[in-house]
Amino acid sequence: MEFTERPRRLRTDGVRELVRETSLSASDLIAPVFVDATTNERVPIESMPGHERVPVDEAVSRVREIQETGVEAVILFGIPASKDPEGSRAYADDGVVQRATRRIKAETDAYVIADLCLCEYTDHGHCGVLEADASDDPHLTVRNDETLDLYAKTAVSQAEAGADMIAPSGMMDGQVGAIRAGLDTVGFDGVPIMAYAAKYASAFYGPFRDAADGAPAFGDRRHYQMDPANRREAKREVRLDVEQGADVLMVKPALPYLDVVSDVRANTDRPIAAYNVSGEYAMLHAAAEKGWLDLEAVAYESLLSIKRAGADLIITYFAEDIANRL
Ligand code: PBG
Repeated sequence: MEFTERPRRLRTDGVRELVRETSLSASDLIAPVFVDATTNERVPIESMPGHERVPVDEAVSRVREIQETGVEAVILFGIPASKDPEGSRAYADDGVVQRATRRIKAETDAYVIADLCLCEYTDHGHCGVLEADASDDPHLTVRNDETLDLYAKTAVSQAEAGADMIAPSGMMDGQVGAIRAGLDTVGFDGVPIMAYAAKYASAFYGPFRDAADGAPAFGDRRHYQMDPANRREAKREVRLDVEQGADVLMVKPALPYLDVVSDVRANTDRPIAAYNVSGEYAMLHAAAEKGWLDLEAVAYESLLSIKRAGADLIITYFAEDIANRL
C-alpha cells in the first residue's frame, strides 16, 4: 500500500479513550428550574417531557433531585403571580425567583444562577418597557435605556436574595454594563455575570415559552434578539459584553449555532456557555418517542458536540439524564 497514515490504528478499544479530545462531565452542566408562583403543586410541561413547573415550596426538593445526579448548578426561571407593563414582579423582594433563591441557598449548597429578563413578568410578554402605542405599531420597540434601569434593579434584588450568578437574557444594548454598575454600587462586586451575549431570535424557544409563559402577546423579538443569518455580528456582541464586564459569555441556541460557539471560542479567553434550548430538547424527545432515535445516545452526542465546538459549560434540559449516565 502507498499510504502510511492509518487513522484507524487509534480507533481500537483501549486506545480510543486515550486519544479522545473532548469529554463531558456533570460539572459542565447547568440544569434549568422553573419556579411557579401560580401553583401549589408540580405541573408537568407537556412539550418538555420530564420537566415541571414547581411551586416555591418544592424548589428545594427539585434542586436536591438535580444534585443527586451530580449536577451542582441550576438556572432559575420564574413564573410570577401577576404581570404588569413594567414587569415589576421581576425585581420584587418577595418575587418568585427571590423567594426560591433564598430557600435554595439556605437549605442546599447548589450554585444558583438567576436568569434575568422581564418577558415572563410583563403583561405584554416583551423583554422590557414598551414604546407608548407599541401594540398598534408593526415596528414595535422595547425602550432600551429605560429597560436597563429595571434590569439593574432586578439584578440587585436577585443578588440580595443570594443568587450566586446573574444571567441577563434580554438582549438590550448595554445591559451587562448597567447590571455590573448596579451590582457594584451596592457591594455585589463579587457576583459574576453570565451574559447571553449572542442570543438569536430563534424558533427553537417555542416549548420554553409555553413552560415559562413568556410568549410576546403581539409582535416578535426580532428588534432586539439577533438575526439568525448573522455570524460576524456575534463577535461584535461578544466584544461589547466583554468590554462591559461579562465574566462568562453565552451563545444561544446551541446546536444550530455551533459555528458561532466556535468563533467565540477563537475570539475570547473567557469561559463560554452554550444554551441547548427547549426546542433542541423537544425535537429529540419527539423523535425518540416515535422510535426513530435513541434518546440517550443523541442527547449525549449533542452535548459532546457542543463542548467540541468550544463551550465550557452547557445549560441543558438533559442535565440530569446525562449526568446519571456519566
Ligand atoms: C427569556 C428567555 C428565553 C429563553 C431563555 N430565557 C425565551 C426567549 O427569549 O424567548 C429560552 C430558553 C429555551 O428555549 O430553552 N428571555
